[in-house]
Amino acid sequence: MLQTALHFSHTLLKEILQPGDHVIDATMGNGYDTVFLAEQIGKTGHVYSFDIQQEALSATRQKLNSGLDDRVSLYLQGHETLGQVIREDQPIKAGIFNLGYLPKSDKAVITLPETTKIAMEEILKRLVPRGRLILVVYYGHEGGQQELDMVQEFCRNLPQAQYNVLNYQFINQKNQPPILYCIEKKRYV
Ligand SMILES: C[S@@+](CC[C@H](N)C(=O)[O-])C[C@H]1O[C@@H](n2cnc3c(N)ncnc32)[C@H](O)[C@@H]1O
Repeated sequence: MLQTALHFSHTLLKEILQPGDHVIDATMGNGYDTVFLAEQIGKTGHVYSFDIQQEALSATRQKLNSGLDDRVSLYLQGHETLGQVIREDQPIKAGIFNLGYLPKSDKAVITLPETTKIAMEEILKRLVPRGRLILVVYYGHEGGQQELDMVQEFCRNLPQAQYNVLNYQFINQKNQPPILYCIEKKRYV
């Protein structure tokens, strides 16, 4: 059966992640991606996770108590400020965004195109060759379409000599299922 965008994002990450890798969860939410990443990168890797809501950090911390917490840093700050805590010369193997609002929470707190774009640029500066930056874009809410447009435009304009970009979506489903983008840095850039 075809994988959902969410499931496929993990498949794409699993293909490349190895023990010792440093990775970014740009939208921590309930912590599912953070836990998944922590499991992939082993004891010697590191996950940097960001969210602007305390409840996201609390939910994520609870899920991490099984010996994974020492390989994860949780930041209560916007992903657009990641440059304050991750040095520019720190190689990053992968990053993931789930854009939209935190399920079962305040639907007014959404990711925004301007700050998402800054964070994407910051991650790409650190991404290693063969590294992947994945965006799973939920866009059915107010403001969601503008963010989708920004992501699409940003991805379309990335130079072919340096990046490959994949777009994965179901085109016959109702209720605007999420759309996935995967930016892969080419080997020699
Ligand atoms: C769709 S949810 C993420 C779901 C999450 N990946 C999970 O596994 O549960 C989007 C999250 O982005 C967060 N968010 C909104 N603006 C943000 C920003 N500027 N920086 C980091 N996180 C932000 C929201 O608080 C929300 O928790």
